[in-house]
Amino acid sequence: MIFGRVKPLAAILAAAEKKSLPRTLGAFQLMLFGIGCVIGTGIFVLTAAGAQKAGPGLMLAFAIAGLICVVAALCYAEIAAMIPVAGSAYTYTYSTMGEILAWTVGWALVLEYAVAASAVSVGWSGYFTGTILNQFLGIQLPSFLAGAPLALGGIEGGFINLPAVVIALLMTWLLMIGTTESARFNAVLVTIKVTALSAFILLTLPSDQFSTDKFNPFLPAGVFGGFGSGIGAIGAAATIFFAYVGFDAVSTAAEETKNPQRNVPIGLIGSLLFCTIFYILVAAGAVGTIGGQPIMGPNGIPFPAGSEELARQCATFTEDNLPLVCSNEALAHVLRQIGWSGVGNMLGIAAFVALPSVILILLFGQTRIAFVMSRDGLLPESWSKVHPKWKTPHVITAVTGIVVAFAAAFLPVGKLADIANAGTLYAFMMVAIAVMILRKTAADAPRAFRTPALWLVGPLTIAGTIFLFFNLPLDAMLVLPLWGILGLVIYFAYSRSRSHLGRGIVELHEDDLEPTAPIHE
Ligand code: ALA
Repeated sequence: MIFGRVKPLAAILAAAEKKSLPRTLGAFQLMLFGIGCVIGTGIFVLTAAGAQKAGPGLMLAFAIAGLICVVAALCYAEIAAMIPVAGSAYTYTYSTMGEILAWTVGWALVLEYAVAASAVSVGWSGYFTGTILNQFLGIQLPSFLAGAPLALGGIEGGFINLPAVVIALLMTWLLMIGTTESARFNAVLVTIKVTALSAFILLTLPSDQFSTDKFNPFLPAGVFGGFGSGIGAIGAAATIFFAYVGFDAVSTAAEETKNPQRNVPIGLIGSLLFCTIFYILVAAGAVGTIGGQPIMGPNGIPFPAGSEELARQCATFTEDNLPLVCSNEALAHVLRQIGWSGVGNMLGIAAFVALPSVILILLFGQTRIAFVMSRDGLLPESWSKVHPKWKTPHVITAVTGIVVAFAAAFLPVGKLADIANAGTLYAFMMVAIAVMILRKTAADAPRAFRTPALWLVGPLTIAGTIFLFFNLPLDAMLVLPLWGILGLVIYFAYSRSRSHLGRGIVELHEDDLEPTAPIHE
C-alpha cells in the first residue's frame, strides 16, 4: 500500500516544539539569506546555455522560471513553518504520503543538492581557469585537466575537470570539520555578488555597443521547442530554473522568523523577485551588447547546449570573437568583449570568491537530508554517526563529497544543472501536494504561515513543475525515472526491512547536531 508507513505528524511536531529556536530573523535577513543561496552558477555561467536554447528569449525564460519558483516558494513556506525539522521535503512527504514516496523524494533530493553542488563546482572551475589562471597568472591548464570529455559535451581533449574536483573536495572537508557560514559572512558575499551583477548591468545596458537589433529575432527557437527538446524559451526556462535553486533554504528558517506570516513571504518572494529582475537585466545586458543568438544546426534548430556538436562549433572561434553561447565564464566574457576587461576580471574574481559558498550550502543541504534518512534507518545507520569533536555527520559528508566530486569531474555544467533541476522539480511538486494534503488531514494544526490561495497556488506549482520537467532535454528527464527505479530497488532490497518506522520505532532526536541551515549563528 503506497500510503502505508506514514510518520505520525504529532511526533514530528512535538520534536519540533522541543527544539524550537528563538525568533530573531526579519524580512531583510531572510532576503539576504535567500539571495546568498540563490545567486551562483545559474546566472554567472548558465546564461550561455540559456542563450543557446532561447536566444534573446532567455529573458522570458528567466521570468517563467522565476514565477514558477514564486508559487513553489509560497507552498514551501507553509509546510516549512509548520514542520520546521530537518529533512525538509523528505520529512514533509514522510508525514503525509508515507515512507515509499518519502524515500523517492529523499532520493530525488540527492539530485537536487548533490548534483547541483557538482554543477556549481564546474561553474566555479570555468571562472577559476579563465580569470585566475589565464588572465592573472597566464597559465593555460592542459585541456585534459580542464573539463569533461568532449563525448559528454565537455571540451576538445578534455578528460577530467580537476579544479571542479578540488573545490568540491575542499568544501566537503570544510563541512566535515564543522565550518558553516555565518550570517555576516553571507552578507559580505551577497554584497560581492550583487555589486558584480550591478556593475555588469550598469556597464552593458547604457553601453555604445548595446543595440536593440541584437534582440532580433527574439525567439529564434520559438517559445516551445517541443517536449524533451530542451530548446525554445520554455526549454531555456527549464535549464535556468537552476539559477533559482536554493531558495527553499529560506523556508527552512521560517521557525526562527519574527512575525513569519508577514516576513517569510516577504523574504522568500522578495529574494526571488530581486533575483528575477537582476537576472532579466543581466540577460538583456549580455544579449544587447555582444548578441545572444544560438549557433544553429544544419536544420535551423539550435545545437543542443552541452553537446559535442556545439563544442566543436565553439572551438572554431577565437577568444576575441567567441559568441556568448560558447563562453565558460559568460558574464566576464561579455565585459571583456565590450572593452571593460578590468571589470570583467573583477567580476570573475567575484564569482571565484562567492560561488564556493553556494557549493557549501548545497552540500550542507544534501548531508542533512541523508543524515535524517540514515537516522530513520533507510540508509546505513553508520552513515549518521556524528564526529565526537567536529559534531558533524562526517561519514555522510565524506560520501557525499566523493559523489559530488566524481560527477563534477566528468560532466559539463549544463548537463549537471538539468539533472539537478529534474530532482528539484519533483521535490517541489511533492511539497505542493503535501501542503494540500495537510490542509485536509491536519486542518487545525497551528500554521505560522498559510499559503495564500492555496487551492490555486498549489495546483499552479504542480502544473508548473511538471511543465518545466517535460521541457528539460530528454536525457536529463530520463535520469529521474532511472534514478527512481534504482532508488526503489535499494528501498525494497535494503531500506524497507531496516526502516525504524517499519520496525515500530518512532524516534526523533533533532538535537544531535544542528541540522538546519547555517543562518542560525
Ligand atoms: N541557484 C544556484 C546557482 O545558480 C544553485 O548556482
